[in-house]
Amino acid sequence: MESQDESAPLSNEPLYNPHLLQRLDMAKCKTRFDPPISPNQPGEGLIMRPLCPADYDKGFVQLLCQLTKVGEVSRNQFLRRYATMKECPNTYYVTVIEDMTTSQIVASATLVVEQKFIHDCAVRGRLEDVVVSDDYRGKQLGKLIITVVTLLAQHLNCYKITLDCKDTMIPFYSRLGYKLEPCSSNYMQIRFENS
Ligand SMILES: CC(C)(COP(=O)(O)OP(=O)(O)OC[C@H]1O[C@@H](n2cnc3c(N)ncnc32)[C@H](O)[C@@H]1OP(=O)(O)O)[C@@H](O)C(=O)NCCC(=O)NCCS
Repeated sequence: MESQDESAPLSNEPLYNPHLLQRLDMAKCKTRFDPPISPNQPGEGLIMRPLCPADYDKGFVQLLCQLTKVGEVSRNQFLRRYATMKECPNTYYVTVIEDMTTSQIVASATLVVEQKFIHDCAVRGRLEDVVVSDDYRGKQLGKLIITVVTLLAQHLNCYKITLDCKDTMIPFYSRLGYKLEPCSSNYMQIRFENS
């Protein structure tokens, strides 16, 4: 992708088909929302939808800084990464909640769908990069976006969805149906120095 003029408006092209979110059957999940909220009605002035290029100017990168170290991501870096994701069909489902009154992204969660040979060439989901902006916490948005991304994985025929989290987050994810597998999985990693 060529470098874009910094002042040019960015596109609203969704990373994935937004109808996927509207088609999800919330009755399939055990999580209850009080007051009721849903992907179509996440709250007053809020909208849930796939990530789009224009989200760079709506604080998407700044939101991720509330999750982990992000670094200085320029507009062009962001657009190139978005384009790379878009070129991998049926793989990246970065989902956001925008506050339409402020034009700011206030929550995000990503489903990555991995193609496998095992289990008859199945697909598995990974839940990544869950974050709700400080000012919007405690309004069930974390619960909602995780529930939606989890249902999306099921809808896309993933045979399972997994996540990594700190010990302190285990009760939070347990309440959303995620289970620890203490005897069968040990999370191991090598961290490379430059990452
Ligand atoms: C974790 C996070 C996504 C929760 O978002 P949120 O919108 O505030 O969560 P909700 O309002 O949907 O909370 C749902 C429930 O989880 C509980 N909860 C919220 N954050 C929690 C936490 N850090 N640990 C344990 N429980 C938590 C809430 O008390 C609430 O309980 P209730 O249903 O009994 O009332 C948000 O605090 C956040 O972005 N944190 C920083 C980034 C992060 O840690 N991401 C997760 C990485 S694995």
